[in-house]
Amino acid sequence: KLLALRSVYKDYFDIGAAVNLTTIESQKELLTAHYNSVTAENDMKFESVHPSEEAYTFEAADKIADFAAANGMKLRGHTLVWHNQTPDWVFQNANGAPVDRETLLARMKSHIDTVVGRYKGIVYCWDVVNEVIEDKSGVWLRESKWLNLAGEDFIAKAFEYAHAADPKALLFYNDYNECNPEKRDKIIRLVQSLQAKQVPIHGIGLQGHWNLNGPSLAEIREAIERYAATGLKLQVTELDISVFDHDDKRTDLTEPTADLLERQAERYGEIFELFREYKEAITAVTFWGAADDYTWLDNFPVRGRKNWPFVFDAKHEPKASFGKITDWQK
Ligand code: G3I
Repeated sequence: KLLALRSVYKDYFDIGAAVNLTTIESQKELLTAHYNSVTAENDMKFESVHPSEEAYTFEAADKIADFAAANGMKLRGHTLVWHNQTPDWVFQNANGAPVDRETLLARMKSHIDTVVGRYKGIVYCWDVVNEVIEDKSGVWLRESKWLNLAGEDFIAKAFEYAHAADPKALLFYNDYNECNPEKRDKIIRLVQSLQAKQVPIHGIGLQGHWNLNGPSLAEIREAIERYAATGLKLQVTELDISVFDHDDKRTDLTEPTADLLERQAERYGEIFELFREYKEAITAVTFWGAADDYTWLDNFPVRGRKNWPFVFDAKHEPKASFGKITDWQK
């Protein structure tokens, strides 16, 4: 009988998957057999739960919360403050003019109070602020309406509001390209500036959108070490390993080749070995999906290019990658 991922990793970290209303049905058996944590892929984002100032729409988010509860899974909250998937009304007045700082912060607070308040004691951990560090070299924070209209301290305020709304929830800063040395250092600088101001932050999310040839194992190790040195907990929040090299532009594959699957398995194996080494710091590893029948990568970076980034195939059967992250236990 197949080992369950979550049992193999029970002395290490939680094993999570991002889900949506389709996959909690179509992948139900797989999800409940192997994973002990879920994250809503889109359904708890600002535009999903708060499409207009007076309207909150929690139907989809509630279904995911109910799915987690019914199956004894933990629930991560994703995400409260982000430049993306946030409706325009947040940043403008009725006449379309940009709002002032006080109005924007008041709207942010009201959003956080309501959303975090609704899932108090249900969502155990929130990605409070997502992706505010700029990728470009030499630039510190990402340009966004949050930053332009409220100023840099919207970040600290988001954590303070979230903490007030649920003092027991674990609060994370979440970002990608986390192993790029310059971006990594900017992320650490942000986190340390929050810690210095006693802002309630408990963890750093390493998204882990990786591919066949990058980042290197050494870069991943260095990121984990440096993040862990902040004293915060770490979670891998959105793991997927694209079967394409970073610069592989092929768009014509309808099945992954044996060679790609083999290389992916090697990479999964070495990466999970590394995660196990850092089990004191890493408390959860969440994949950004569960099996190859559904992944956001099918539309990124090229719309309609199929990808196979997980350890279960499109029929929910274990791949060589599954073998490589479980065989150490035999
Ligand atoms: O909801 C509309 C639907 O009404 C419409 O018919 C359809 C047509 O394209 O689009 C739907 O919206 C899509 C949405 O996902 C919900 O499925 C958007 O086009 C699509 O862009 C959006 O993509 C999501 C993406 O975030 C948006 O930035 C992905 O599913 C989701 O996996 C991805 O997740 C992010 C994390 O939140 C943060 N880190 C990076 C990660 C990957 O980009």
